[in-house]
Amino acid sequence: MNYRNKVVVITGASSGIGEAAAIKFAKKNAKVVLVARRREKLLQVQKEISQYTDSAIVCQCDVSDKSQVKEMTDTVIDTFSRIDILVNNAGFVIYGKVSDLTIEEIESQMETNYFGMIYCTKNFLPHMIEQGQGHIVNVASVGASFGVPGVASYCATKFAMLGFSEGLKHELSGTGVDLTVVSPIMVDTPLFDHPSFENFSRHSTIAILSPEKVANTILKAANSSRLEIVVPSVARAGIWAKQNFPFLINPIIGNAFRKQLTKRTSKK
Ligand SMILES: NC(=O)c1ccc[n+]([C@@H]2O[C@H](COP(=O)([O-])OP(=O)(O)OC[C@H]3O[C@@H](n4cnc5c(N)ncnc54)[C@H](OP(=O)(O)O)[C@@H]3O)[C@@H](O)[C@H]2O)c1
Repeated sequence: MNYRNKVVVITGASSGIGEAAAIKFAKKNAKVVLVARRREKLLQVQKEISQYTDSAIVCQCDVSDKSQVKEMTDTVIDTFSRIDILVNNAGFVIYGKVSDLTIEEIESQMETNYFGMIYCTKNFLPHMIEQGQGHIVNVASVGASFGVPGVASYCATKFAMLGFSEGLKHELSGTGVDLTVVSPIMVDTPLFDHPSFENFSRHSTIAILSPEKVANTILKAANSSRLEIVVPSVARAGIWAKQNFPFLINPIIGNAFRKQLTKRTSKK
């Protein structure tokens, strides 16, 4: 698709998948809005992509804060008078058993990963509907289809995102606005630098994807009529197997990830 001069808002653009997507959209001469909390990191990304696009702006914004999201939306609309693509990508994960996590730790993941997406969607959607054109790309996870021990509360945020996206996509039928979820498996990004992963063995995880590969899928998703694109596509087979044969697949997932969880807890 031709993304030249399209206004693309990317949350979580200061790092990982969001940063890689910002670079790819900029290379297509899109107008890119970089959203995250760390202004310095956003300015670095802005500097990097300024060689590809003359229109990249930085919006420091905590997506879990409704008023900051409203302010960010106003800035985008005041600057560009429109929004073509919204990539809801900001997110984080806290590792640990539900019995060990605080309620606040569980809430905070939902506030950013799910409600952050809701606030951005609610603020930009009326503009897209008025334009009769637009695409929302929600970055979920393969964890939107598997409840995994150690990241149960994170998976819940992504299950919620996927369910919301499916319902909203139906509602948008005929409006010219569409929505696609991108669900990657493990990606090599700073997501796992959170202190809760301190004793988590990276060797036992399969960090198989580069952020660039997921970013390519985000660009594809922004012009797709599909509800969900799983990356890599072969992981779709695992989701299918789990949905059709949960009594076979759930024990395998449970055993594999519980072992890791036990290791982590015993190292404490
Ligand atoms: N890495 C994986 O294996 C993997 C797999 C499946 C799905 N995902 C999803 O992919 C998305 C991007 O993650 P990543 O892997 O690229 O990790 P990352 O490198 O840690 O990037 C996360 C981004 O989200 C931003 N962010 C976090 N909380 C925020 C908040 N409250 N407000 C605004 N921005 C916030 C961070 O920026 P600031 O800290 O500057 O705010 C950062 O730019 C996440 O939604 C994650 O759940 C990742």
